[in-house]
Amino acid sequence: MPVVVDVPEPPAPTGDRLLLRVEASSVNGTDLGAFGGGLTAAVVRRVSHPGFDVAGEVLSCGPEVTAFAPGDRVMALLGHSGGGQAERVVFRQEQAARVPVSCSAAEAASLPLAGLTALQALYGRAALRARRSPRVLVVGASGGIGAAAVQLARLVGAHVTGVASGRKLDFVAGLGAQELVDRHEREVTALGRRFDVVLDTPGRLLAAAARPLLADDGVFVTTRGAGPDSVRELVPGRLRRGGPAFATVRTRPRSADLAHLAALVDGGDLRPVVDRVFPLAQVEEAYRHVRGAATGKVVVATSAVPVG
Ligand SMILES: NC(=O)c1ccc[n+]([C@@H]2O[C@H](COP(=O)([O-])OP(=O)(O)OC[C@H]3O[C@@H](n4cnc5c(N)ncnc54)[C@H](OP(=O)(O)O)[C@@H]3O)[C@@H](O)[C@H]2O)c1
Repeated sequence: MPVVVDVPEPPAPTGDRLLLRVEASSVNGTDLGAFGGGLTAAVVRRVSHPGFDVAGEVLSCGPEVTAFAPGDRVMALLGHSGGGQAERVVFRQEQAARVPVSCSAAEAASLPLAGLTALQALYGRAALRARRSPRVLVVGASGGIGAAAVQLARLVGAHVTGVASGRKLDFVAGLGAQELVDRHEREVTALGRRFDVVLDTPGRLLAAAARPLLADDGVFVTTRGAGPDSVRELVPGRLRRGGPAFATVRTRPRSADLAHLAALVDGGDLRPVVDRVFPLAQVEEAYRHVRGAATGKVVVATSAVPVG
């Protein structure tokens, strides 16, 4: 579990970097991976600092920053080493976009990693917008990525089946999913139905096991890294013509994609779903909540300013 420690202030931003006064940072499944055991606390501290996305106010800008100015409210996706659950953070302008005008800091902080992953998986890897009346299966539909994915799929006219734990199915229905599967009652791989797109947000399904779920020109997109099991499906999928395709999503901190998410939020087409906001002093409790009962996003407020 993460702990709060005092560290030196970050240096003044150089080049195209911004210094942000962080107001809020959400907890992602990716944080849970780093803090979920397996690695020793010392190793985790060296490779990763909790928090991959942030929202707050720009305090100062490096000389090459062109898109933002001090006082702007921005949200950003940080790099692999994280560091967002802090009072100050420095990142490059290409990782950031303006906070949607209709959003609190907590809502904005819920968007970057989960929203970008859903967007880049569905609109990017699965080319969902080019498919007519697609049938989409979202596994992990109650989670951060899943909640965004259900909404983004519905937005382009997809028929969405959401898979989640039974007590969270009402929440998934509220996002717009038309069909619901309790993963503890039914084996997803044995649904006996075919989908144009299967998005496995927790990355637990093996590609071969997902194959019977796919239409002939369907695509399986997973957040899982390409291991030996998926390479067996990925490589032939890339080479052959016809038949289902298999893809992994590697989320990119693209400013244009973040701005697209912000525009969807301001247009009323995407709803940030913040389950609970915890103060920084209760960061451990925030992580425990994500592991258990959370629906949508859990946010850590890192400033004294109310962010909810
Ligand atoms: N490849 C990339 O670039 C990339 C980027 C971002 C995230 N990720 C990965 O994506 C994963 C999900 O992230 P997230 O932020 O959406 O996490 P999250 O908010 O914790 O949501 C994950 C959801 O998956 C469901 N789940 C958990 N175990 C499951 C299982 N065995 N089978 C089916 N569903 C299960 C849970 O829903 P229920 O409780 O309702 O069952 C949970 O709500 C994380 O592992 C993260 O590391 C990868």
